[in-house]
Amino acid sequence: MKIITMATLKGGAGKTMNTFNIAGILAEKHRVLLIDVDPQCNLSNNCGVDIADPDLKTVRDILGKQPEDQPAPEEVIYKMPITDLPNLDVIPSSIMLFDTEMNMVNATGRENFLKYYIDDNREYFQNTYDYILIDTNPSMSIININAFYIADSIVLTSDVSTNSVSGAELFCSLWKSKRKPLRKENNIAALILCNFDKRTNLGKDLIEYTGDASFSQDIIIKTVVPATVKLKNTEVEHQPVNVLYPKDEIRKTYDRIVDELREKGVL
Ligand SMILES: Nc1ncnc2c1ncn2[C@@H]1O[C@H](COP(=O)(O)OP(=O)(O)OP(=O)(O)O)[C@@H](O)[C@H]1O
Ligand SMILES: [Mg+2]
Repeated sequence: MKIITMATLKGGAGKTMNTFNIAGILAEKHRVLLIDVDPQCNLSNNCGVDIADPDLKTVRDILGKQPEDQPAPEEVIYKMPITDLPNLDVIPSSIMLFDTEMNMVNATGRENFLKYYIDDNREYFQNTYDYILIDTNPSMSIININAFYIADSIVLTSDVSTNSVSGAELFCSLWKSKRKPLRKENNIAALILCNFDKRTNLGKDLIEYTGDASFSQDIIIKTVVPATVKLKNTEVEHQPVNVLYPKDEIRKTYDRIVDELREKGVL
């Protein structure tokens, strides 16, 4: 079982888009669990989960809770939200996570709630999933630090814009300052560029820059995700590219990204 957390410090950079579509492709051959820790709940929505359902169990039932109050994995995992991908499950997020974050500020072991929960139920998670993919929001919140800390690999996402590349770079330096006191090794393993409009010269320059820059040259994924309405449709249709456009070039793009992530040891 490998745990991969998607990150950056710029909003709207394509993290959720990449999480959803990489998970879709992986779920064709592997058992995949998504964990949404972003209070915007975009990944949960993409999966078609009704986050307004008052009975829905969410990641909020795990974070900031004492072990005796945490649900068993079978209770909190929403099984098979996408009918065509029976190997894909999700632990949804909650808009009330903002509240949870505040309650966690002074909690003992506040950076470790997710780690302890997986450790307490390691046999279940290990026997049930090959990959756990965690989607975060653009911040160094305590909840996100839980997700970065537990990751075997962090995969950064940037759209092809100056501010977004800066957001990825900023993440690298901030995470270094956060992980050192926690004795966590550097786990940033890849950077995916996306939403690329090939008509712009700035885009080409930025792709070149990330290939050479010291923070990104070793982690850059060479396959760039183009800007396309087909990817927006994956959100509307609640189906990742491999289900919605199984033979399309955009699916092949994500196949290549998955191959590159495997070469980098992320998958
Ligand atoms: N390659 C793409 N082509 C077209 N639209 C895209 C592409 N990638 C992302 N988008 C659109 O850009 C918006 C932001 O993408 P996404 O939600 O994945 O970003 P994010 O980094 O997860 O944002 P946040 O920081 O708010 O979590 C979405 O509306 C999505 O539809
Ligand atoms: Mg997102």
